[in-house]
Amino acid sequence: MSERPYVIDQMISAKSIAARIEELCGEIAQEYKETDKLVVVGLLRGSFVFIADLVRELDLPVEVDFLEASSYGNAMESSREVRILKDLRGEIEGRDVLVVEDIVDTGHTLTHVLHLLKSRNPAKLRTIALLDKPSRREADIKADWIGFSIPDEFVVGYGIDFAQRNRNLPFIGKVRFTE
Ligand code: IMP
Ligand code: MG
Repeated sequence: MSERPYVIDQMISAKSIAARIEELCGEIAQEYKETDKLVVVGLLRGSFVFIADLVRELDLPVEVDFLEASSYGNAMESSREVRILKDLRGEIEGRDVLVVEDIVDTGHTLTHVLHLLKSRNPAKLRTIALLDKPSRREADIKADWIGFSIPDEFVVGYGIDFAQRNRNLPFIGKVRFTE
């Protein structure tokens, strides 16, 4: 838990997020229009709100699965060591896989997860991230679809936490310390 007092300034409204998801789903539906093999894989826990809105906007036959990789722990700094805490329930060999991430920051988490999933021989492996912080990138990776590119700010809401709090905010806000 953070002891330092902070406030949250809205950065992206719930309305803007919904509009962007509608746009992205148009593109995704085009890409997958021929398939009935799509598995949408949410990276827990940060993507749970995004994936819920995303799949409801996708007019395609989809399956949903989840994977949990460790990253920040309870701190604000990412670690390069990524561990799989919870694996997929289903097989992805020969399937079309869309990995859903909340934020691509240093890029280590997504790199590690894609490496793992690739080794299971999916037919197609694509990624979507709600947020991208390109200025923080350490690994050479970019999501195929990005909701919003943002500056180097620590953000919360819409599934994304600071020390496990604020995931339930309906918008994306940035954390501003007041002391
Ligand atoms: P990466 O491995 O550095 O790309 O870290 C990705 C993960 O770190 C994301 O999935 C988030 O869970 C977390 N993360 C990165 N930036 C933020 C942030 O601004 N707020 C909250 N969590 C973040
Ligand atoms: Mg995450």
